[in-house]
Amino acid sequence: MKFLFLIFPFFVGFASSTIDARNAPRWSFNLKNTTSGIVALESIVVSPTLALFFDRTSDDPLQINNHSAWGALWDLQTSTVRPIEVVTNSFCASGALLSNGSMASVGGTDSLFPGNPAGEPNGNNAIRIFEPCASPSGEGCTLFEDLNTLHLLEPRWYPSSIRIFDGSLLIIGGSHVPVAFYNIDPANTFEFFPAKESTPRPSEFLRRSLPANLFPRAFALPDGRVFMVANNQSIIYDTEKNTETILPDVPNNVRVTNPIDGSAILLPLSPPDYIPEVLVCGGTSTDTIDPTLLSSQTPASSQCSRITLTEEGISKGWEVEQMFEGRIMPELVHVPNGQILITNGGRSGFASVGAPGSIPDPVGNSNADHPALTPSLYTPSLPLGQRISNKDMPTTNIARMYHSSVTLTPQGNFLVAGSNPNGNTTVGVKFPSEFRVETLDPPFMSVERPRILGMPKKLRFGTKITVPVTIPRSLQVTDVKVALMDLGFSSHAFHSSARLVFMDATISHNRTSLTFTTPPTGRVYPPGPATIFLTVGEVTSEGAWVIMGSGAAPPTIE
Ligand SMILES: *[C@@H]1O[C@H](CO)[C@@H](O)[C@H](O)[C@H]1NC(C)=O
Ligand SMILES: *[C@@H]1O[C@H](CO)[C@@H](O)[C@H](O)[C@H]1NC(C)=O
Ligand SMILES: *[C@@H]1O[C@H](CO)[C@@H](O)[C@H](O)[C@H]1NC(C)=O
Ligand SMILES: *[C@@H]1O[C@H](CO)[C@@H](O)[C@H](O)[C@H]1NC(C)=O
Ligand SMILES: *[C@@H]1O[C@H](CO)[C@@H](O)[C@H](O)[C@H]1NC(C)=O
Ligand SMILES: *[C@@H]1O[C@H](CO)[C@@H](O)[C@H](O)[C@H]1NC(C)=O
Repeated sequence: MKFLFLIFPFFVGFASSTIDARNAPRWSFNLKNTTSGIVALESIVVSPTLALFFDRTSDDPLQINNHSAWGALWDLQTSTVRPIEVVTNSFCASGALLSNGSMASVGGTDSLFPGNPAGEPNGNNAIRIFEPCASPSGEGCTLFEDLNTLHLLEPRWYPSSIRIFDGSLLIIGGSHVPVAFYNIDPANTFEFFPAKESTPRPSEFLRRSLPANLFPRAFALPDGRVFMVANNQSIIYDTEKNTETILPDVPNNVRVTNPIDGSAILLPLSPPDYIPEVLVCGGTSTDTIDPTLLSSQTPASSQCSRITLTEEGISKGWEVEQMFEGRIMPELVHVPNGQILITNGGRSGFASVGAPGSIPDPVGNSNADHPALTPSLYTPSLPLGQRISNKDMPTTNIARMYHSSVTLTPQGNFLVAGSNPNGNTTVGVKFPSEFRVETLDPPFMSVERPRILGMPKKLRFGTKITVPVTIPRSLQVTDVKVALMDLGFSSHAFHSSARLVFMDATISHNRTSLTFTTPPTGRVYPPGPATIFLTVGEVTSEGAWVIMGSGAAPPTIE
């Protein structure tokens, strides 16, 4: 009921006298008429019109230079795909945008598919740079790699990486080698890109959170420190002092990092205090991680745990509520209005894939089963117990299990792709190599929307900006939200660097201009690319692509 109620005011505006809730716009899944060509195992929006997908070296149908591609640019406007040459194997890498607008993809693995192409280099210490791409279709845009001059200090498969307050990347953990299930050869260290020192920094937290600590979930906090959760442990890491502060465990034995993937998200930050709160959902409640004792039918956890990262909030600990279903490998994604989308994953089993040393009863090659096909929305401002709703949310028939991705787009909808618990391309099984692409479209995609008509390319911190807008007559300007967002890098049920910072904003009386104030410093929004969305009532504009800060290469302080 809640959602219908929320859209009611503008619906009245549209439908004049006849009120017919059956015709009200709704959330919907929409299948695209083109496939992704490669499995979209990782996904990041790199320009107003392009998402970059990565797969592993495999036998994917999309070809480039006479071999199967494992990188591709998805055109968000035309729903078409363009292969991109990747030198090293980007399998289970991470990545983020930097302060100068370039994307860095980090880590990967050695060759799992020697046939394609002959002897491509090991990617586990790779750094791949995609410079800002001015062509709307991606034509002529390439990925740069040179292992001789550009590489990590330590090999990393399954690392995480986030942009921090100086616009550089903090790279966290991973494994030195491919593993069957959990982390047996850990990179228990942190490093930076660009490097801040010549050796990686050992981490007690990563040691303590073994062995289910791959793809640690981490967030840059508005004071510049970094929150991390891995396994059921959490800390705040101070990159400037190199100190770790231990926080309470995720309650009830719930573990949330690979191969027991829950997901985590930094809730929207609001002025003037930008009080950080973290939400962790899904994973599994288990006191063993011995794969021989686990099953593809082990129920996933429905637990969502939330903590406020102030002294008082930390002493209070995690607050717990339940989703409608257990979810292994869910994704948590910001909606520009401040809600959180919970989507993808399965209701039982684990991440990783069928292999000797993995769980004994995969479904085909999938360690997980019972796909969760209906997304939910989490509303942070509602009272505990009422925050999660799937009322009026659509149901898809495409399972998005291991190696799937989802990202908010600058158009304001969600691009959902990938899923592949298999080795080479496998079809005709319950959980195939999935090349179908869907969008999950919020109701506002089918109504007249506010528009941001102009925006400077770069915005300084702590500045008041006025830009031209149009607001449909049907919308009342009493409820205006302006979100400054990093759309994140989606890989393995986690959106690295995803961020939503609300900005104080007003619309002029004549409804032709929007005035907003940017965050005070790069600690609140790490300098680099951002998408600005205007939401009036329940209707969100398309996003405007900007660079927060000077656009200088990292490290940079604005
Ligand atoms: C695919 O859909 C787009 C609109 O989304 C349309 O313009 C295009 O012609 C379609 N292509 C095919 C091959 O049907
Ligand atoms: C691809 O293969 C064709 C025919 O086998 C050959 O003519 C062409 O030069 C090859 N292209 C590249 C980039 O290797
Ligand atoms: C976290 O995991 C450790 C080790 O498995 C366990 O001893 C501890 O009880 C767990 N914490 C909670 C709060 O469940
Ligand atoms: C994948 O396919 C290639 C080429 O068809 C083949 O050489 C390779 O053995 C296959 N690998 C697996 C793991 O099936
Ligand atoms: C709208 O109001 C702003 C200031 O409130 C003014 O600068 C602008 O000229 C007005 N535009 C129109 C079209 O009246
Ligand atoms: C941005 O900075 C990174 C790291 O120094 C560098 O590799 C990349 O080339 C830079 N991009 C541009 C466009 O200067």
